[in-house]
Amino acid sequence: MKVVYITGCLGFMGSYVTRTCLKKGWYVKGVDKMTYSSNPEFLEEFERYPNFSFIKSDINDLKFLYECDYVINTAAETHVGNSITNSDEFITSNINGVHNLLELTKNYRQETSKTPVLLHFSTDEVYGDITSGAYNEGNLLRPGNPYSATKAAADMLILAWNKTYGVPYIIVRPTNNYGIGQYVEKLIPKAIKYLKLGRKIPLHDWGRPIRNWLHAQDTADAVMTIIESGVQNEIYNISGSFEQTNLETCQKIVKLYNGDENVEKYLDFTFSRKGQDVRYALDDSKIKSLGWKPKSSFEKELRDIIEHYKNKFIW
Ligand SMILES: NC(=O)c1ccc[n+]([C@@H]2O[C@H](COP(=O)([O-])OP(=O)(O)OC[C@H]3O[C@@H](n4cnc5c(N)ncnc54)[C@H](O)[C@@H]3O)[C@@H](O)[C@H]2O)c1
Repeated sequence: MKVVYITGCLGFMGSYVTRTCLKKGWYVKGVDKMTYSSNPEFLEEFERYPNFSFIKSDINDLKFLYECDYVINTAAETHVGNSITNSDEFITSNINGVHNLLELTKNYRQETSKTPVLLHFSTDEVYGDITSGAYNEGNLLRPGNPYSATKAAADMLILAWNKTYGVPYIIVRPTNNYGIGQYVEKLIPKAIKYLKLGRKIPLHDWGRPIRNWLHAQDTADAVMTIIESGVQNEIYNISGSFEQTNLETCQKIVKLYNGDENVEKYLDFTFSRKGQDVRYALDDSKIKSLGWKPKSSFEKELRDIIEHYKNKFIW
């Protein structure tokens, strides 16, 4: 039995990791500031477990850690578009917040013999884009937008706190995740919402950017694989290597949503994004060497996601 803090437990990725840990019987101390992208329905679900407790807090405001094995940090500002408009909250949550978690872990280390491992969610975006091939964990970080710059900065802090103070860490760098429960600003739920509203789906840069898609449960399973293997002070890319253009993603959504083959009439190509990254790609052979591999099929999961949201309000 492990005791884990999960910050950002009411967000998309945090909810999958929380659910997975709770089902394993681990004790979860969930922390969330409950920003616009959190989902209070997850709190109702998790509070049914006797092995869950919740602290409503900004990670910057935590003053100490109870005894625990891991601090799994998924709390972050995550929408690239928002970071381009105003990066203030991204600096506060994604950099200062991680700094506070590192300081708490460092202080804990000085006061007790048992030190929790900070298992931090980074992103494939820290490497920047790549037109062919894939980045491995040793590649230089060249973030291309304010969001990914804050994520890269946090990764640097973690490496330094490990070398200077001995704070143990794991950094995971997942690719684009999808699944039920993702906030509606992200491509897949946004596309479904626009179809429900009878509006055209806004697509940046002619839908040409290429993204790698991995189901959030596969990412949560990768985190479990890492924890159960007992490794520390390592970085893991988590990808699964299923990639397609954003246009292809939207075409599949339209066809599954209403069966119409003439998909272009549902798409609005008048948008572009500053600093657009053309393609992200990760070499994830390191995590695969621990025995993890993705189980989900994009097409099957996408069908289920669409059916789910056809019958449910997207908040
Ligand atoms: N979703 C993806 O495709 C993806 C891909 C790669 C990496 N990531 C990383 O995974 C993590 C989670 O992403 P997500 O998509 O679940 O995000 P999300 O926006 O769905 O959820 C973020 C959660 O963190 C909480 N939060 C934000 N700032 C906080 C703070 N200062 N203190 C406490 N709680 C705070 C929010 O209330 C929310 O519940 C992030 O670190 C993100 O960079 C996500």
